[in-house]
Amino acid sequence: MEKLNSLKNLFVHEIQDLYSAELQLTKALPKVAAKATSPELKNAVEEHLAQTEEHVSRLEQVFHLLGEEPTELTCKAMKGLIKEAKDILKEEASPETRDAAIIAAAQKVEHYEIASYGTVAKWADVIGRNDIKQLLGQTLDEEEKADRRLSELAEAGINQRAAAYRAEEKELTE
Ligand SMILES: [Fe+2]
Ligand SMILES: [Fe+2]
Repeated sequence: MEKLNSLKNLFVHEIQDLYSAELQLTKALPKVAAKATSPELKNAVEEHLAQTEEHVSRLEQVFHLLGEEPTELTCKAMKGLIKEAKDILKEEASPETRDAAIIAAAQKVEHYEIASYGTVAKWADVIGRNDIKQLLGQTLDEEEKADRRLSELAEAGINQRAAAYRAEEKELTE
């Protein structure tokens, strides 16, 4: 691997990391969608899966524009976030609680992506690559929208339904 002796090298390093992160997500999101109960949540995850495939191909365009081969550098952070999501989804849970867990896990992923794309979009600017900045900015925009949609779904009642379920359960056992 090239030494990180310039911002350009560091930039490529980060793009390789993001490429790995997005590829991991294309494999994980179908499993998450299958576990969702709320049709709105299932839809949101499925639509973001389609966008994630776009994110992969945008990164391939970025590699191309940099004159580099698309290469994955295992994103350990995404690996960890996905592992945590898988672990929580393995637990026995009411459908409502599981949906709340899916939203929580998905928002952690979105925030990771927002932080990463925000950084590389800025760096693309610094290294004078407006063409690349445009591509990364498009993805950043979609990640932010996906995050907001998840917040709206949570506020629209998934969290409340989970809380109501707990209260009901408590009543039954008392
Ligand atoms: Fe993405
Ligand atoms: Fe995303």
